[in-house]
Amino acid sequence: MTEAQEKNIPDVSSDFEPKIVAFCCHYCSYAAADLAGSMRLDYPTNIKILKIPCTGKVDVLYLLRAFEDGADGVIVAGCEEGTCHFINGNIKAKKKVKYTKKILDDIGLGGDRLEMYNLSAAMGQKFADLAKEMTERIKKLGPSPVNSGA
Ligand code: FES
Repeated sequence: MTEAQEKNIPDVSSDFEPKIVAFCCHYCSYAAADLAGSMRLDYPTNIKILKIPCTGKVDVLYLLRAFEDGADGVIVAGCEEGTCHFINGNIKAKKKVKYTKKILDDIGLGGDRLEMYNLSAAMGQKFADLAKEMTERIKKLGPSPVNSGA
């Protein structure tokens, strides 16, 4: 174990590439990610996208499991409020994300490692921007304590 790990100091070295899992709804954010690719927009490649039918399908346990399995950060990206194809799935997801953030704070991982975004299928640029924003945020936070053994 390094001195930084013993002192629980995040590894903010420039070579830290965070692993970020993005739960993307099929109808909007997944399509936006696809559009970002088609538009050849530059965004970090460390975002692993999991396509789900609707963010309402996301469960608190799925989010926690992603961290347990090694994610440094997790994104939930769904349709804009009022446009969910399953009426209120994104509203349910918003509540679950808020609840999970509190759990992450309570157990010391930090709720800032989890974020929800809402976007339409036409927002390829917004998807690229949120991917960059989340990557920079997680780089500043450093590796997840689950991964660093802290
Ligand atoms: Fe996209 Fe529900 S269908 S969030």
